[in-house]
Amino acid sequence: MAVDNVDSIDELNYKPEMPTTPRPIVSIGTGGIVQGSHYPAYKLAGYPVLATYDVNHDAAEQAADEIGAKNVFDSIDEIVDYGKKNDAVFDVAVPANFTADILEQLPDGAGVLMQKPMGENIEEARRILDTCHSKNLTAGVNFQLRQAPYMIAARDLIAKGTIGEIVDIDHRLVGTQPWDLWPFLFPKDRVEINYHSIHYIDNIRCLVGDPTSVYCKTMQHPKMRKLAQTRTSIILDYGPDLRVNLHINFNHDYSKKYQESTLKIEGLEGAIRIKLGLMYNYPEGEPDKVEYITYDDPTWKELPVRGSWFNEAFIGTMGGLMKKLDDPDYKYMNSVEDAYHTMCVVEAAYKSSATGGVAVADYAVEE
Ligand SMILES: NC(=O)c1ccc[n+]([C@@H]2O[C@H](COP(=O)([O-])OP(=O)(O)OC[C@H]3O[C@@H](n4cnc5c(N)ncnc54)[C@H](O)[C@@H]3O)[C@@H](O)[C@H]2O)c1
Repeated sequence: MAVDNVDSIDELNYKPEMPTTPRPIVSIGTGGIVQGSHYPAYKLAGYPVLATYDVNHDAAEQAADEIGAKNVFDSIDEIVDYGKKNDAVFDVAVPANFTADILEQLPDGAGVLMQKPMGENIEEARRILDTCHSKNLTAGVNFQLRQAPYMIAARDLIAKGTIGEIVDIDHRLVGTQPWDLWPFLFPKDRVEINYHSIHYIDNIRCLVGDPTSVYCKTMQHPKMRKLAQTRTSIILDYGPDLRVNLHINFNHDYSKKYQESTLKIEGLEGAIRIKLGLMYNYPEGEPDKVEYITYDDPTWKELPVRGSWFNEAFIGTMGGLMKKLDDPDYKYMNSVEDAYHTMCVVEAAYKSSATGGVAVADYAVEE
């Protein structure tokens, strides 16, 4: 049963980062994620979108209609010029291989939020980071899971010491995905981690920082030969006391019954269990659920959710950027500099997968 308060624990913070006064936004790339999630979140937050541009003009028109943007431009030059004159934030949501080229065309000193991944590999991530620095852009990357209200509350619970020192994190996804919604993924060499579990890696980094090393195998499934990978196992190495594991299987298409999308955080005093409802029977989803337990009160208790990964979390990635533009000293959790470290973990995961494990045959004896 959902509760309205959190028992003996002081009221938790659920609030995504938001500026006092929102800045205007202009959109470059206005496909599925912008229309389905950015704009619903911006409507909730009251962020004004002034203009749209997409290489597919119909998509730009449709998006402008949805959010009430007055201007639809036919070229990147026009929207960049307009955005500069209106001191707007650039909201860039295109397939990752186009992001760096677009950043190079933005005005020096602009604010920009780009969609994840931050390039297709570490070389592109480095180019994006360098471009942001050389053009003095205030930039963020849309790793929004850490801005989901239930994740903000979970971090608050952890910060209050409720579950003690974190010693075990397990992120588990067992289900399916309508991959046909994203035709641009089919020719890519890197799919599952770059385009999905990158969110979980980024979220885990937000909880416990950077791992020292990564063990990974990411792989195809015989039922899904058209995509490079749809399954992944990752161990993030945080030394002797903290175990971190990601278990991702997008080929569990037998029935809905045993689908799973959970994040479990265990501490020395208690544990938190989060059901990420979105991934059940995607895109229909189920309600999210957040529970916690402590040794002092050893029954699982449910916390209110108050907003999800999709769409409310998108308030915070954009809101934090606007706050950073207002105050350069503000610590923006989705900064491009922080996101680069997520890309380092991802690159290490791909390298580990390509390198392979320790050969068992090395220990065989002649029979
Ligand atoms: N943060 C998240 O949770 C999340 C979720 C879904 C997608 N994404 C990311 O958002 C990006 C877009 O995904 P989507 O689902 O909206 O895909 P989509 O295919 O629905 O939309 C992409 C849009 O970009 C446009 N486009 C392509 N190149 C362009 C260019 N050079 N200039 C302007 N427009 C261009 C396309 O015409 C299309 O309308 C991807 O990088 C994806 O990884 C992030």
